[in-house]
Amino acid sequence: MKFTRRRFLKASLIGASAAPRILAATGSPALVNGEIQVAVVGLHQQGKGHMRTYLKMPGTRLVALCDVDSTILAERAEECAKAGFKVATYRDYRKLLEDKSIDAVVIATPNHQHALQTIWALQAGKDVYCEKPLSHNVWEGRQVLAAERAHSKNVVFSGTQNRSSEDIQEAIAHVRSGALGKVLWARGLCYKLRESIGHFSAAHPVPATIDYDLWTGPADLVPPHRNSPRYGPVHYDWHWFWNYGGGDITNQGIHQVDVARWFLGESALPPSVMSFGGRYGLQDDAETPNTLVSVFNYERAPLIFEVRGLPQKSGLRAVDAYRGTRIGVVVHCEHGYLTVSESGTVVAYDHDHRKQNQWSKNTLGRHRANFVRALQSRTVSEARAEECHLSSALCHVANMSYCLGREVANSRLTEAIRGSALTQETHGRVLDHLKANAVDVDHVPSVMGPLLKVDPQGLRVSGEDREIDAAASRSPLFKRQGRDGFRIPALTA
Ligand SMILES: NC(=O)c1ccc[n+]([C@@H]2O[C@H](COP(=O)([O-])OP(=O)(O)OC[C@H]3O[C@@H](n4cnc5c(N)ncnc54)[C@H](O)[C@@H]3O)[C@@H](O)[C@H]2O)c1
Repeated sequence: MKFTRRRFLKASLIGASAAPRILAATGSPALVNGEIQVAVVGLHQQGKGHMRTYLKMPGTRLVALCDVDSTILAERAEECAKAGFKVATYRDYRKLLEDKSIDAVVIATPNHQHALQTIWALQAGKDVYCEKPLSHNVWEGRQVLAAERAHSKNVVFSGTQNRSSEDIQEAIAHVRSGALGKVLWARGLCYKLRESIGHFSAAHPVPATIDYDLWTGPADLVPPHRNSPRYGPVHYDWHWFWNYGGGDITNQGIHQVDVARWFLGESALPPSVMSFGGRYGLQDDAETPNTLVSVFNYERAPLIFEVRGLPQKSGLRAVDAYRGTRIGVVVHCEHGYLTVSESGTVVAYDHDHRKQNQWSKNTLGRHRANFVRALQSRTVSEARAEECHLSSALCHVANMSYCLGREVANSRLTEAIRGSALTQETHGRVLDHLKANAVDVDHVPSVMGPLLKVDPQGLRVSGEDREIDAAASRSPLFKRQGRDGFRIPALTA
């Protein structure tokens, strides 16, 4: 067979997304009136969007809702009733899973619940759509994959919606065709304004409407130290506490981590990672950095990730941009570069910044319909759990380096990263950005994380000495098994 350019591009396009996961044939749900019976779990913001989707999605019927906040649960059930849907309501997810009429669960609870709720759903015989990240730590993600293997008839579909972007798929095929030469590096960007969450001298009482034991699930049971005017003491701002979230790299950033890794064609963890940054310019109780640089040392081409929560300049609300991109990815190649926007539009430029090509069909919005297609066809083509696990684990190991780091003067940090021009250039821009935000970088230190060696499958993360080794293996971002009633089943190493 003649290997034409067209045929090659087609082959690369298929190769651009990992091979689909085809399920065991007997896994199809027994349909009621030809419809898949769906439940949505966690209904505050993202879950509300999912709920509204399944009020209208052809081929499905929304039959149940679950939330540990009885106010939110009642409001959502009322909205469904007004739309003509009488749904069952559950506060305890475990009770929902006993409902045999439910075929698929859509999980939009906080990150620390994702792995356990996915595993429990699979064990109950349900198909799953789980929001990103797949896990709260590296080990948990591996347990989800083990559960997926054990329940090979069931769908696990991840909320990393860029995987449904035909633009990105085609741009990746373009890069793989060699049109831009070798990929030299990829940079992920999460420049997103994040303001102070406030400083509180005491923990806040939990509203009586929230079952806080269920909300905490496998995390450590501690009272909330936050009280957002918008979300109250429990919802959303958990992102900025290590017990539940991982800061913006794991929140918004995971989408761009995922896209950048996809462009690089890497299907394992990098041999090493190092992060630096800090929580600058804010006096609040949040724990996660608002400024972070993480360098993933893939052998073929590094992936460097930047989080910036401060504005372009103190007093402004606008945020910085890098090559015109705020939340996105830049893939730098021998003969030009590509930018990928938050909405998935890809533009190719030459090194003189002249536009060469553009992909802008904008198909991200098809992600939920693609999930339904996966349920019907019993084949997961986009957003496989394995991919979301890897991208989630990248965020976790980056955060591990930060958490194991120590404060150093910026001059010391500049010296320590001297070996990498890419890292130094990034640090230089970070310093300029901090100065524009009135951070006295000559006196305010930065956290410099150790270079962590990472096993490709995430079996081990180790450091330069025994102390770091021991701390890495004890890190809850590497492994946390949960607490009584909410133990993550140990299914593999
Ligand atoms: N794919 C995307 O682009 C995207 C966008 C936004 C959010 N998300 C993800 O969606 C998830 C939810 O985000 P959010 O902003 O809506 O968070 P949120 O904190 O505002 O809402 C979470 C909801 O889950 C409920 N909940 C918590 N524990 C529960 C449990 N055990 N059982 C049932 N309900 C429980 C809470 O009461 C709350 O109503 C996060 O993991 C986030 O990363 C994804």
